[in-house]
Amino acid sequence: MNHLLHIDSSPRFDRSHTRRLTAEFAERWKRTHPDGTVTYRDIGRDPLPHVTQEWIAAAFTPANQRSIEMQTALRLSDELVDELFSADLIVAGIPFYNFGMPSGFKAYVDQIVRVGRTFDFHPDDPDSAYTPLVRGKRLIAVISRGDGGYGPGGRNEPLNHLDPHLRTVFSFIGVEQVEIVAAENDEHGGTALADSLNSARRRLLRLAGNSSVCRSDHG
Ligand SMILES: Cc1cc2nc3c(=O)[nH]c(=O)nc-3n(C[C@H](O)[C@H](O)[C@H](O)COP(=O)(O)O)c2cc1C
Repeated sequence: MNHLLHIDSSPRFDRSHTRRLTAEFAERWKRTHPDGTVTYRDIGRDPLPHVTQEWIAAAFTPANQRSIEMQTALRLSDELVDELFSADLIVAGIPFYNFGMPSGFKAYVDQIVRVGRTFDFHPDDPDSAYTPLVRGKRLIAVISRGDGGYGPGGRNEPLNHLDPHLRTVFSFIGVEQVEIVAAENDEHGGTALADSLNSARRRLLRLAGNSSVCRSDHG
C-alpha cells in the first residue's frame, strides 16, 4: 500500500514557495510510484476551524458516550485523523511565520492530535502517561522562510521554533520520522533565494524517488 497525503498550508498561491516545492515532490513521487495514490488537502485555500469548547468537551468524552452534537463537533477532526491513518507518507508545505508555524497549520495539528485516536492518556501511570497511536509513517515538512540562517548552526537557529515543534508534536502521536526540508531567503531574493530553493528541490526530488520513504504499516 502506497498512499501519499499532500497538504498545503500557505495562504499564498502563485507566489508560494512551499506550494511549488510540494507540487514538484508529489509529481516526482507519482512518477516513481505509479501504483501509489494521493490525497490532497489544501488548508491554505480552505482553512480549518480552530477547536472550540464543544470540540474539547466531545474529544474528552468516551466515544460510546458522545451525544449526536458531540459526534458532529468531531466530524471534521475524525475525517482528518482517518486521512492521516490512511497515509504512508505525508508531505506538508508549511510557511515559517513569526518563528513558528502559521495558525492555519496549527489548526490542523490541533484537529489531529486527539486523545483516544492519535494518542492515549493513562493518568494512573505517571511514568508513561501518553501512548502514541500512529504507527510507521513519515512526514516530510517543506518549509520556506523569509530570512536565512535558521538551520543547524546558523545565526538564527535559536529563533527557529518551528522545526522542534514539528518534531515534538508529530513524534508525540507516533509519526516515526520527521524530515525537514527548508528553503530560505524569500525576503532577500536573488541568488541567495535561488540557491536555497534549488538545494531544497534537489533534496525533495531525491526523497520522492527513494522508495524507502514509503512505509506500509498502518496505525
Ligand atoms: C505573517 C508572516 C510572518 C512571517 N514571519 C517570518 C519570520 O518570523 N521569519 C522569517 O524568516 N520569515 C517570515 N516570514 C516570511 C515567510 O516565511 C516567507 O515569505 C515564506 O516564503 C512563506 O512561505 P510561502 O512562500 O510558501 O508562502 C513571514 C511572512 C508572513 C506573511
